[in-house]
Amino acid sequence: MSTNPATNAWTPASWQGRPAAQQPSYADPAALARAVAALSRLPPLVVSWEVEALREKLAAAERGEQFLLQGGDCAESFEDCESDNIARRLKILLQMSLVLLQGLKKPVIRVGRFAGQYAKPRSADTETRDGICLPCYRGDNVNRPGFTREEREPDPELLLRGYERASLTLNFVRALIDGGFADLHHPEYWDLGFLRHTPLRDAYQRIVDSIAESLDFFESMSGQRIHAATRCEFYTSHEGLHLLSEQAQTRFISRQRRWYNLSTHMPWVGMRTAAIDGAHVEYFRGIANPIGVKVGAGMSAEWLQELVQILNPQSQPGRLTLIHRFGAGDIERRLPELIRAVRSIGARVLWVCDPMHGNTETTSTGIKTRRFENVLAEVEAAFRVHEECGSTLGGVHVELTGEDVTECVGGARGLAEADLARAYRTSVDPRLNAEQSLELAIRIAQRADQQRRQRRASAKTIT
Ligand code: PEP
Ligand code: CO
Repeated sequence: MSTNPATNAWTPASWQGRPAAQQPSYADPAALARAVAALSRLPPLVVSWEVEALREKLAAAERGEQFLLQGGDCAESFEDCESDNIARRLKILLQMSLVLLQGLKKPVIRVGRFAGQYAKPRSADTETRDGICLPCYRGDNVNRPGFTREEREPDPELLLRGYERASLTLNFVRALIDGGFADLHHPEYWDLGFLRHTPLRDAYQRIVDSIAESLDFFESMSGQRIHAATRCEFYTSHEGLHLLSEQAQTRFISRQRRWYNLSTHMPWVGMRTAAIDGAHVEYFRGIANPIGVKVGAGMSAEWLQELVQILNPQSQPGRLTLIHRFGAGDIERRLPELIRAVRSIGARVLWVCDPMHGNTETTSTGIKTRRFENVLAEVEAAFRVHEECGSTLGGVHVELTGEDVTECVGGARGLAEADLARAYRTSVDPRLNAEQSLELAIRIAQRADQQRRQRRASAKTIT
């Protein structure tokens, strides 16, 4: 067993004494130090009471009382920081959450993979094309996707441009929500144009109508407009990968007497940086935010147990979300032992399914894609496995966009490999488009509906 880093004193910089995977190498250390110093003086993007409010909701999801919907781009791009793109992303997440609320009959916690999802882990440090070898693209916070030496050179100034874009994104999201954009009385605000022609239109409309009826019913019963139910919050999340920038935005909150990463509500540790002795686990163990950890093929029961003990030694409710991503073919074989491993140490976690990262494949023409049927199959298997193990699936983590892209195949419109060329825009992983995202939510809701009906039918036979 490896040494347990939790025995050493933690500071926001203590990770620097450990091996840090997936960090860019900058040519000019002085320029990097200047950018990081500038970042550490800028105001936080979120505040600790919001972070605590999210933790309490995640604790409720752990108890099976709420459901987490976490979604957004694989990698946000600076270029997409514009009003239409942000509004559309918000709209699809709102539509999905409405469908899930109606189907699962529990509040949905909305967490965007946005306002800071600008740093990416990569499988190789360099990329070679036609004999030219350049640093790989590591997200807009680090370098640019174009295949030129200039664009691929890590530039510390981008950390500041990323902070600004995250703050502009969050400012717009907050203003839209404060202005009533997320009001459940007005789902028509979230209309996504092309969805009017989708084969899913009727299913979605039925859900919207049923929510409207329920609101009407409660409001006429109580004689009041239901404000609590109609206002909803949005939280942010990103992979906490670039540790110097995460450290720069880590602040001590004297009222709470704890350190918070105030660049986002819920940072997560990716699969490639979850080593017990690594710098990321060291950094994450000391911040007070609710955190996620990606869990996939290659993670043993012992490794996971150690991670859970280091990252949540007090078993604080809502602190730790385990986001499993095995792929449709492997989940049934791999997940049960990890559920048992966590249970056997008496730990409390929120289990969430990422049905994207275990289902990535490459077409015969070399395009990275995912099959909608596999995404759906993994989510369905996740619900089933948790039920069979006496555990609860408390959420889904999805790569999606509000745009009409063609990056994943399948879904109600039957996108084929030949369609991928039409609107393939992601700079890293393929995302579900708005229609496929809505379909995923509808299928989850239908599954819950069916189960409720079966339970009612069997209750009737018993009485
Ligand atoms: C991601 O969420 O984009 C990602 C890289 O995931 P994972 O760490 O699970 O591979
Ligand atoms: Co991804």
